[in-house]
Amino acid sequence: MSTEIIKTVGVTKCFGALVAVDRVDYSLRENEVAGIIGSNGAGKTTFFNLVTGYYPPDEGSIFYKGRDVTRMTPQQRVALGMTRTFQLTSTFDNLAVIDNLVLVYFRAHRDSTLLKLLLSTCRRHRNEDKIVATLETFDLQHVRDRLVKNLSLGEKRRLEIAMAVLAEPQVLMLDEPLAGLAESEIKVILEVLGRRVGKQTILIVEHKISHVKDFVQRLTVMHEGRVIADGGYEECLSDPEVRRSYWQIDTEQEGSKHAAA
Ligand SMILES: Nc1ncnc2c1ncn2[C@@H]1O[C@H](COP(=O)(O)OP(=O)(O)OP(=O)(O)O)[C@@H](O)[C@H]1O
Ligand SMILES: [Mg+2]
Repeated sequence: MSTEIIKTVGVTKCFGALVAVDRVDYSLRENEVAGIIGSNGAGKTTFFNLVTGYYPPDEGSIFYKGRDVTRMTPQQRVALGMTRTFQLTSTFDNLAVIDNLVLVYFRAHRDSTLLKLLLSTCRRHRNEDKIVATLETFDLQHVRDRLVKNLSLGEKRRLEIAMAVLAEPQVLMLDEPLAGLAESEIKVILEVLGRRVGKQTILIVEHKISHVKDFVQRLTVMHEGRVIADGGYEECLSDPEVRRSYWQIDTEQEGSKHAAA
């Protein structure tokens, strides 16, 4: 059995009277590709924020490779190599694609002060093998020198994921990376992510389950802050509570009303 990378025990987060994440026990093993699905407001993003340290939990504990990180800041968790969260705002829009990649690479490989991150220094690293390979993998060679603010949404999303991968986190956590993309762009991103399977621990939140069906090895379904199912794709989807809560299948009338399929 591979190493357990992330484990949560009874994590709970309330916003006033609302229990956004309700006593969630979760575990993720090395090189596992796991998905979390759930309808709007199920608590998926809040759970991500608890794992990355953005919010402290009201109750429960979070472990990274057996070490209790519950009270650690996001920066401390990143320093442990734990996660580098994918965020929509994580690019530098007034820099070229290549320079965004160089900055991330530099940060991951050099114990550096901010000053050393000055672009003049970074430009010397534009041709590092790993950066060139990343441009290729993520199909970004043709926009290498384009400013990020001039990229299409699909290109920008690929760059964000490329930056997250280049930072070499133990866990690549992606919160709805396909949101707002056209089918053709989704295809490219899934292909690129598919190439990471087996090489990287990936935790992906997705609304449209059909997109991650062939990609994730394990699925967790959240509903109203709770985990209602966890296991293989088919197993989860045939679970009676998932059928009732997520798919809103009325067992009398076998019709799905859920729009996210
Ligand atoms: N900062 C916040 N303050 C107050 N309530 C919040 C906050 N963040 C989330 N919530 C509430 O907590 C619940 C869970 O939200 P969360 O964003 O985690 O859901 P989600 O599963 O990611 O949903 P979506 O699919 O829409 O992204 C929702 O009812 C939401 O309104
Ligand atoms: Mg969310």
